[in-house]
Amino acid sequence: MSLQRATLRQLRIFEAAARHLHFGRAAAEVHLSQPAVSIQLKQLERDVQLPLFEQMGRRMNLTRAGAELAAHARAVLARLREADDVIAELKGVSAGELHIAATTTAVYFVPHLLATFRRDRPRLKVRLSVKNRELVVRDLMENTIDLAIMGAAPPDLDATSIAFAKNPLSIIAAPDHPLARKRLVQLAQLANETFLIREGGSGTRTAMERAFAVQRFRPRETVEMGSNETIKQAVMVGMGVSFLSLHTAGLELATGELAVLKVDGMPLMRDWCIIHRQRKWLSPAAAAFKDYLVMEGVKLIDGAMRRGAFVRKAS
Ligand code: PGA
Repeated sequence: MSLQRATLRQLRIFEAAARHLHFGRAAAEVHLSQPAVSIQLKQLERDVQLPLFEQMGRRMNLTRAGAELAAHARAVLARLREADDVIAELKGVSAGELHIAATTTAVYFVPHLLATFRRDRPRLKVRLSVKNRELVVRDLMENTIDLAIMGAAPPDLDATSIAFAKNPLSIIAAPDHPLARKRLVQLAQLANETFLIREGGSGTRTAMERAFAVQRFRPRETVEMGSNETIKQAVMVGMGVSFLSLHTAGLELATGELAVLKVDGMPLMRDWCIIHRQRKWLSPAAAAFKDYLVMEGVKLIDGAMRRGAFVRKAS
């Protein structure tokens, strides 16, 4: 028995089950009943001769063999998609598929970019995954996506990275914060604040740590929270201040529910980049989307922020 007997269909089912870690959700995605999914996965386990999943209380996990097979299954399916796209291009078909990953911070404007891009391509199928920077980089490494939208690529990744817009980061606070009305604030004045910070693996968190290290600044207390949304809610109710991309807070800054502190040297300007692996074959749709962002990115992000009522300037 070996994997040579496995069918592509089984790999597809397994890939969905490994991603969801839930047979019911995988079954819904591949349009099968849950028992049919279980039978296919049992057959695969028989071929591999090792368990692929393990149940830990109510949580299902991949075994080591499961994790290895999942990485290979993703690679096989990605190559098939590429083949599909090449064939579609040969046939002159404009539809195709576009699989993008965006960081949780970029996602405040990415839907707007996709919506305008799709206007002329209604048959284009888009899959958008949203994760923090570390996980988007992993997607790039595993070649499971066409393009990533995030801050600059890590230097050790063999990637092509094109900056298409600016990402302003600064310190936000509740509007009644004593420093909110000051015309200039020094970072050192915030030493006694509680800083609500993003999780490890977030690009925002790394940018904050670098900026603070340059100024030898260490806040008295930090509280880690796993999402921009949670952090904004906590800042609004006065739990602390936070260093975030202003693109995450367009609406709250415009309505006055949050304020940007005018900290000396901020906003810090990072780049938003469109990134793919260097040797990646870009489908016509992916190549067109990349060109579109490079040409129109700044205008589109501005538009997205205005739609989010981002009226106040960052500085
Ligand atoms: P993140 O995004 O903080 O949501 O990871 C920032 C980035 O793209 O670098």
